Amino acid sequence: MTLCCLNGVIGPLDEARISPMDRGFLFGDGVYEVLAHVDGVTRARQLHQARLAQSLARIQLESAISIDAIFADVDRLLAASALTSAKIYLQVTRGAASERDHRFPAQITPTIFVMATAWSPTVLGPQAMIIAPDIRWQWNAIKSTSLLANVLIQQQASEAGAVDALLHRDGWLTEASTSNAFVFQDGALLTPPLSDRLLPGITRHLVLELARKHGLTVLETEIAIDQLPQADLVMITSSTRGLVPITRLLPDQTIGRGEVPAVFETLQADYQRVLHAHP
Ligand code: PDD
Repeated sequence: MTLCCLNGVIGPLDEARISPMDRGFLFGDGVYEVLAHVDGVTRARQLHQARLAQSLARIQLESAISIDAIFADVDRLLAASALTSAKIYLQVTRGAASERDHRFPAQITPTIFVMATAWSPTVLGPQAMIIAPDIRWQWNAIKSTSLLANVLIQQQASEAGAVDALLHRDGWLTEASTSNAFVFQDGALLTPPLSDRLLPGITRHLVLELARKHGLTVLETEIAIDQLPQADLVMITSSTRGLVPITRLLPDQTIGRGEVPAVFETLQADYQRVLHAHP
């Protein structure tokens, strides 16, 4: 039985109930995090806590929330579920109000939901992606639960037989619909710079740290989407998928020689090692 923690109360997931007036349900008025918990360690916990704090601040919900209390819920839920490896989903919304009104309610009681499902990381081999316009809103650095555009893009990618879509605005790579994007090119590692065009991924942060430590040339720079076939490799990253090599662009393009360079393998192996020890 999968357990969850809703507003501090642990119980079966299929018995948890929220109000239909919850602003997360009505407006997508909330933020979330996804964390990997592996062999008893919640990976990069402090980085996720800091990003949650930033997301909450951007939607003016930080004063109503204790990040420590949410992570105490995470710990209690993991203990109650007896899970040593799990995918943790946590969501905070601006709660329920008596009327449907776009403006914030005068009294806010946030809804805090934590779910832990049995999961273990898998290392993915070379994958294919599609390219699609980035149709999302302008504040993508907020990890918002309003994910309709991401849902539509991910469905399109899946129907095309791709793992995800590489997104672009006006011809410039932003990220993927559920991951950050990188390019290996002539011995350097390139990724678009942080801005509101993309999520500040935790995996992105760790990979950049690691690549610099290895003496790789790292460039946070704009990348033209039509340059991708000329790259040595494209890579996408996320907490749940880790580092994924991309060698094909559907329907019919190959990236570089269609091979995974040794530098990727080294980075991926080191990522697993460093991640487990990261606070
Ligand atoms: N997705 N960009 C987007 C749009 C994402 O949704 C995600 C994560 C990332 C990678 O972030 P991180 O390295 O912190 O996981 C980048 C999660 C896993 C999800 O929505 O399920």
